[in-house]
Amino acid sequence: MNGSQELRFPDSFLWGVATAAYQVEGAVGAHGRAPSIWDTFCRRPGAVVHGHNGDVACDQYHRYPQDVELMRRLGVGAYRFSLAWPRIVPAGSGAVNEAGFDYYHRLLDALQQAGIAPAVTLYHWDLPQALQDAGGWANRDTACRFADYAERCFRALGDRVGFWFTLNEPYCSSILGYLEGVHAPGIRDRAVAYRAVHHLNLGHGLAVQAYRGQASATGTAAARGIGAVLNLLAARPATARPEDIEAADRALDLQSRMFLDPILDRGYPRRHLAAYPQAPLPIEPGDLEIIAAPVDFLGLNYYWEEAVEADPEAPEGYRLAAQWQPASEMGWPVVPGGLLRQLRWVRQRTGGLPLYVTENGCAVADRLTADGTRCADRRRIDFLRGHLAACSRALSEGIPLAGYFLWSLIDNFEWSFGYTRRFGIVYCDYTDLRRIPKDSYYFYRDVIANYV
Ligand code: FCB
Repeated sequence: MNGSQELRFPDSFLWGVATAAYQVEGAVGAHGRAPSIWDTFCRRPGAVVHGHNGDVACDQYHRYPQDVELMRRLGVGAYRFSLAWPRIVPAGSGAVNEAGFDYYHRLLDALQQAGIAPAVTLYHWDLPQALQDAGGWANRDTACRFADYAERCFRALGDRVGFWFTLNEPYCSSILGYLEGVHAPGIRDRAVAYRAVHHLNLGHGLAVQAYRGQASATGTAAARGIGAVLNLLAARPATARPEDIEAADRALDLQSRMFLDPILDRGYPRRHLAAYPQAPLPIEPGDLEIIAAPVDFLGLNYYWEEAVEADPEAPEGYRLAAQWQPASEMGWPVVPGGLLRQLRWVRQRTGGLPLYVTENGCAVADRLTADGTRCADRRRIDFLRGHLAACSRALSEGIPLAGYFLWSLIDNFEWSFGYTRRFGIVYCDYTDLRRIPKDSYYFYRDVIANYV
């Protein structure tokens, strides 16, 4: 990115860290929780590196007091975590398991005592297996079951939680889960995947409507409302050739426009749908109005940017170009300027709608010092400094960026990579579940305290 690495943030800027239930909680059999699609997927041979699973993860279910204390010392204003649907409504629909809510009440108590606001994701990929057995997100009924579950969460927790996210990255749930098969439920079928896309969008809209129905009776004084968390593709043209510029725009159709456009009441991208007539969206009358139910903000997860070039041979006329940037342990190129470009692109479409970076972070091959007390994760600090500078620059341009959540508080179960990728600013020793703050934890603490 051009420009300085200056970090200037208004006092009102919300600093946070993020996690997700299946990645940190563990305790998968505790107090009536039923299996999710990830419990099932992890047991499929070859699906997850080393056959890892979330059975124990960071054991946050039992160790949340330690994690909240780490956050308190960090100085964050908010903790973004997700509710596990299979804890709360184990069969996906029907009876509520009160013990599921009890756990989240305990977590909320601890956060409240530490002065940290909850920022709650309703669905971070752990669909109750019972709903998958009935077709999962390819079945329209799942969208309705999601709205019922969401309504119960608003009712049970709405007087303590004022900041809600419907879905985390519906692109990953649908495309990685049902088209590429690399995430649960591990299906490879474009027609099924596009049904899932539409039903996820519908579930989002129904949940927003349910929230509006409840909001008068609930909500905390500091309520920020409800929105979705999207991982839009960040794509720049590989060169300034007009055909590459066109290709980079076209590349946004599947990952960005199929999710953002209907939420913004712009319908689905016709150009993309026309390219796949064998995979029609199961849109019923009234669906687009539901999906476009007004949101209070938008959450963006940003990790990297692609460079795109035209390729007349490729099915959609483009391919991803090689990049010169150094890559993280995920193989994702480190491109802080891409975050600024994405924020500009989104702002052009969302105007004054508040935006949050709901995830941003970097996988590093972290090692503890020989005495086990420290982890010098210089590459993560460089990553964060660059991306925070992009946020600072966005603010100076008048982009309504209201907060930033670092992924992640602690190393955790990184989906199909199991425990082999570390994103935390706190190291998790998986042999004894000890937590050791990394150097980046102290860096972030100092950013928050305005000492950097
Ligand atoms: C995002 C997911 C999150 C985490 C990061 C690294 O796609 O939302 O759970 O795994 O990637």
